Amino acid sequence: MRGIGCAGQMHGLVALDAEDRVIRPAILWNDARTDTEVDYLNNTVGKDKLSAETANIAFAGFTAPKILWMRNNEPENFARIRRIMLPKDYINYKLTGVHSCDYSDASGMLLLDVKNKRWSNFMCELCGVREEQLPTLYESYDVIGTLTDSAAATLGLPVSVKVVAGAGDNAAAAIGTGTVNDGSCNLSIGTSGTVFISSDSFGVDPNNALHSFAHANGRFHLMGCMLTAAGCNKWFVRDILNAPDYAEERQITDDMLGASGLYFLPYLMGERSPINDTDARGVFAGMMLETTRTQMILAVLEGVAYAIRDSFEVAKSLGLNIKSSMFCGGGAKSPLWRKIFANVLGIELGIPRSEEGPGYGGAMLAMTGCGEFKDVSECAHALVKTREVVRPDPVIAARYEEKYRKFSKIYPSMKDLFKELK
Ligand code: XUL
Repeated sequence: MRGIGCAGQMHGLVALDAEDRVIRPAILWNDARTDTEVDYLNNTVGKDKLSAETANIAFAGFTAPKILWMRNNEPENFARIRRIMLPKDYINYKLTGVHSCDYSDASGMLLLDVKNKRWSNFMCELCGVREEQLPTLYESYDVIGTLTDSAAATLGLPVSVKVVAGAGDNAAAAIGTGTVNDGSCNLSIGTSGTVFISSDSFGVDPNNALHSFAHANGRFHLMGCMLTAAGCNKWFVRDILNAPDYAEERQITDDMLGASGLYFLPYLMGERSPINDTDARGVFAGMMLETTRTQMILAVLEGVAYAIRDSFEVAKSLGLNIKSSMFCGGGAKSPLWRKIFANVLGIELGIPRSEEGPGYGGAMLAMTGCGEFKDVSECAHALVKTREVVRPDPVIAARYEEKYRKFSKIYPSMKDLFKELK
């Protein structure tokens, strides 16, 4: 083996003390404890200022609100912070002894000036963080070092193995599915659900509903992230119905798609994109005495697809005309869900031959860093193959078009109520 490239869940706050020991359990991407800090950042500091400094606004899962939360709620822990890292960067540190971060993952901290690819002094000061407490910035394919003696011994690998900076899981998945050309799209349906639109140039959604981040190929992307995607299906089928697997979805036939009046709002952990509402909750709407458990399973799958479409609609409003997308993550393994997504979005979905989106992308970054390819794009064009294309069916897509319009009315009508239900 010549190189290692890590991909990791984004935004998590890993705080280290002067001996590089973890101070407290990491606060992860889907943690919603930072309401007060997000409110302060977006409404007192102001969205315009945040967007001018970082290209983004505050969302509960982002790292800067978590740093402020720690300062407000755990001052003794905050005072001990020597370094701030993201989850995969901590692994890279354990591998190499180097404190690094790549631009794609750093983008989700709300501390990076994404456009100019440097830490924002303004944001650092606001969070009470000095630049030397932050990791050194790299492109994802840059080599940050080689294995330490102890990492090499633990892994049984030579110390000569190179480690590249790697990427946030979504940017790595985009590399792993070949989403590197301007305007190309990747849809990842894992615990979270993301819409990732690659862009050769820097751009910001004027409403900041989509994140404006750096890409792992050295360029940029726009991204929408829903917090519970395949997580909704797992919750309903495995935890609620207690089913041993997902086989019951095979009873769902084409004539059932988009045909019932049952809807599901998939906000089981609040929601990030595009509504940015930690109070939003899951809802089944339209149940009747005749409603079956199979219909409820279908409603969950459809609700997640509608919520992803919400981010597509934002992209459309920015003039981005997405005609096809790659489709990866655990959810992409379901032939039924692929069909639902293709029809709800009305686009062709490419299923990559390698199912390991982020892991494959991490390995491709390592190959590029080790000189196997001129750049990430060349690597993606050489190594990513599409196994299957799922096309929308005009009849099913038309039914979903109508149902999506109805789905779109549910959240606005409940938005205020969610605040009271807390
Ligand atoms: C992206 C996000 C999630 C996590 C999941 O902004 O928060 O996709 O990266 O690992």
